[in-house]
Amino acid sequence: MEQSHVDQRTRFVVLASGTGTLLQSLLDATADPGFPAQIVAVGADVPDAKALDRAQKSGVPTFVRMVSEYPLRTDWDSALTDAIDEWNPDWVFCAGFMRILGPSTLARFAGRIINTHPALLPAFPGAHAVRDALAYGVRVTGCTVHLVDEGVDTGPIIAQAPVHVDASDDEAGLHERIKMAERSLVVGTMAAIASRGCVIDGRRAYIP
Ligand code: GAR
Repeated sequence: MEQSHVDQRTRFVVLASGTGTLLQSLLDATADPGFPAQIVAVGADVPDAKALDRAQKSGVPTFVRMVSEYPLRTDWDSALTDAIDEWNPDWVFCAGFMRILGPSTLARFAGRIINTHPALLPAFPGAHAVRDALAYGVRVTGCTVHLVDEGVDTGPIIAQAPVHVDASDDEAGLHERIKMAERSLVVGTMAAIASRGCVIDGRRAYIP
């Protein structure tokens, strides 16, 4: 008799808004059954996010909750919370999700939402981190995976990777080099959290 196989690996819902190259790295990693995490669904805030195509090509279910579909921002927040919760995730990973999560989502998945950001936080939070780092003239920038709290890119830091800024860098080129580092960082962090969890001690977060 054929046995049905239930995937017991740690469950992640990934949220993305754009091209989803980071998501692709996560999809590629989780395709290996020996990898300790699975992606149970991918959610977006825009219906044309290329990330959704990437998920569908990998056979991962998707959902979209657009802010403009709801009369109030709090309604969108509740709808997003429920859409994520339907997949019963252990963790939520914002990988290029360009919306600030609301109080309902933060409360439902408290301490279990992580975000990746294209700068070495606490420097250059917000939506234009790469541009801001270039404009400031830093010689080293990078990427950060951190827990999400109610602030903008302010939660406890889990992992970081540095990237040197070249004199000839423009925003697109530097962001692409940051994303090369970021793809390894997100995959490594997902694996580590899936295997060992994450301990939060005040401002400090670490994977035991
Ligand atoms: C990544 O660099 C991620 O850090 C950034 O969007 C990019 C997504 O790339 N996220 C933010 O800026 C969130 N504030 P991708 O669409 O190629 O995966």
